[in-house]
Amino acid sequence: MASEVFAPAKINLTLHVTGRREDGYHLLDSLVSFAPVGDLLTISEGDGLSLRVDGPEAEGVPEDGNNLVMKAAALLVSDADLHLHKALPAASGIGGGSADAAAALRGVSARGGGDASAEGLLAAHGEEILALGADVPMCLYARPLRAEGIGEALTPLALPPVAAVLVNPRLQVSTPAVFRALERRDNTPMPETLPDMRDTADLIAVLSEMRNDLQAPACAVQPAILDVLARIGAQPGCKLARMSGSGATCFGLFLSETEAAAAAEAIAAAEPGWWVASAVLGDCSALAAPRGQ
Ligand code: C5P
Repeated sequence: MASEVFAPAKINLTLHVTGRREDGYHLLDSLVSFAPVGDLLTISEGDGLSLRVDGPEAEGVPEDGNNLVMKAAALLVSDADLHLHKALPAASGIGGGSADAAAALRGVSARGGGDASAEGLLAAHGEEILALGADVPMCLYARPLRAEGIGEALTPLALPPVAAVLVNPRLQVSTPAVFRALERRDNTPMPETLPDMRDTADLIAVLSEMRNDLQAPACAVQPAILDVLARIGAQPGCKLARMSGSGATCFGLFLSETEAAAAAEAIAAAEPGWWVASAVLGDCSALAAPRGQ
């Protein structure tokens, strides 16, 4: 029997770059949430490991051992037939490949009767999972959290849900190039204790005081991101427009789902070549749990 695992998009609501390790990796302090928009991985029995990729965002996604899904599955099993339906644009700052790798880990582990929880997988294979990509551990949680270190020190949080529009101008941005363009690598972290956030308005007020330190360098590498941010910020009801991760996907936050959906519709109509979605960001862990083993 096949199992299905949903891989929700990861959104960095904030991302402060607070230092740099000797190996060149940057130390981060980031508030992360997840969107019920994502890829779908189907796992069935196979002889050896194989992967097939289809879906609207499949172009250019490798189907061999270079795909993070294959690398992730290979950590746990040597036989599985994997089918990835790609709905998230690749190399876009919303975790696509990392979310897929996390889905593979959850799904393969659950099929083998193992512990598919983020805590269990990280306790057993933390180093190898982090080596797949710095965002893979957070994608295992698929729920709001604070990420520190290079993405391995994770603290789940209860953040209020927030309606958002997600926009990618269909330009891939190289994460190492953005980190190279970063001028200050010792920016202030977020406050150690976050203020109380009772509702969406509180959350947006707190986020407004914070930043994504990769936004300016990403705009220097790819100036089209400035247009995306301006387009989002001009939508009625948009309270905050910011880039996620190392870009180029940006998000706008709204007080209501209706406003976010209207913004998505308006942007998609004006820019038919862009990838646009609206979603409520929050806890997607139930949605991301493997189904049908
Ligand atoms: O781990 P991941 O494959 O996502 O990282 C891609 C590249 O981004 C790394 O090789 C590194 O250049 C940069 N990076 C970084 N600091 C991080 C995460 C990524 O410098 N915390």
